[in-house]
Amino acid sequence: MRLTVIGTGYVGAVHAACMAHIGHEVLGVDVDAERIAALTSGRPPFFEPGLSEMLRKAVDAGRLRFTTSPVEAAWFGDTHFICVGTPQHDGSGVADLRHVEAAVDGLAPYLHDSGYERVLVVGKSTVPVGTADRLARRLNAAAPGAEVAWNPEFLREGCAVQDTLRPERIVVGTRSEHAEARMRTLYAPLLDAGTPFIGTDPSTAELVKVASNSFLATKISFINAMAEICDATGGDVLTLAEAMGRDSRIGPRFLAPGLGFGGSCLPKDIRAFTARAEELGLGDSVAFLRQVDDINTRQRRRIVDMAERLVGDNFAERNVAVLGAAFKPRSDDVRDSPALAVADEVRRRGARVRVHDPEAVDNARAAYPALQYALNVAKACERADVVLHLTEWPQYRELDPAVLATVVRTPAIVDARNALDPVAWCAAGWTLCAPGRPRLG
Ligand code: UDX
Repeated sequence: MRLTVIGTGYVGAVHAACMAHIGHEVLGVDVDAERIAALTSGRPPFFEPGLSEMLRKAVDAGRLRFTTSPVEAAWFGDTHFICVGTPQHDGSGVADLRHVEAAVDGLAPYLHDSGYERVLVVGKSTVPVGTADRLARRLNAAAPGAEVAWNPEFLREGCAVQDTLRPERIVVGTRSEHAEARMRTLYAPLLDAGTPFIGTDPSTAELVKVASNSFLATKISFINAMAEICDATGGDVLTLAEAMGRDSRIGPRFLAPGLGFGGSCLPKDIRAFTARAEELGLGDSVAFLRQVDDINTRQRRRIVDMAERLVGDNFAERNVAVLGAAFKPRSDDVRDSPALAVADEVRRRGARVRVHDPEAVDNARAAYPALQYALNVAKACERADVVLHLTEWPQYRELDPAVLATVVRTPAIVDARNALDPVAWCAAGWTLCAPGRPRLG
């Protein structure tokens, strides 16, 4: 099939490469000419395992091209995926749909003479419920008969390719049998491999995405609230989480206590969902999401306070090493990164902060120029009064605490992700603090 992917950020670049990989002819579209030039030469604008190989292969095979031209997009095929960002309006949780509307408005005037009879615009962006139907009315003003469907993505950064090629489900919301049939044909290779297809209406499809992310965020904040209770009562939140997670009705995933969630989706999505529910007069139905958000941001303060206590309640003139800047491991994304929020607050409280991250230093430096950055862990930890482990990259788990103890001024560490082996660190002479766990050493 011939399809376009409008917006080549995380979702769009991965979707375009994966759709070409399963055999479609794909045209990627973006307003950013620099990005288009990079993608054309097979270079993704961000770090994502497996993506650059897949991109290069698809481009070399001639199944994937890129353009900045909306008219070229309209004439290229009959199915157009909208994968542009839906950021948060400044100061409010409300989703900003400017880019989604611009993508549809860009296509609309050229669709009637594209030669295609049944044009389908498929939204993948995360949007407030009701957006697809509103966009359909907007689109039909210029292109009567064109349809809008919604097909939310659930990919996680760091395993985006795998999540796209082997998703746990494909959710498609349409208003016609024809549109659903086309989506089934498009995804046939994935459906043949056993992926469940959930066909529904566009509103339900939009809701599946925000409800899923809200549920995941709630699970994380739930266990972090339990970590707070454990800190006050001497309990051990890791044991609690393990015991809870073994109940198959609860399950162990997204129950890892620590610094909480960040990134481009969960924080923004729960705020946008709250704002939309309030708009609909249904604020009470999702009022708990405000608490989920509050619990989450409180974890950042808790870690800063924990570190401050370890350096004698005063950060002035202290050296603080930060391990991790990305919002999660295997990503160079620093958007709403809990690690950098903590690092910056520690700096604002007077410490000299040196940050290490295996992939995200360039992005971190651009977002937080006042922090210092180190090329390796040893440099970051040189003469440190406390080390903060804030993003659980696998290589940090393999650090030798005995070797690192010879580099720092005081062997004290906050394991904000509950990912290090406390027994090994304490045996090497470290004091280790972690949220929801008794202090060791
Ligand atoms: C998320 C959703 O998982 C995905 O389905 C959606 O499409 C986009 O948003 P992503 O933002 O890539 O994906 O990250 P995810 O792996 O979900 O992690 C989100 C945040 O939660 C990270 O900051 C992570 O460190 C944190 N987290 C996750 C926890 O603090 N504890 C956990 O148990 C799990």
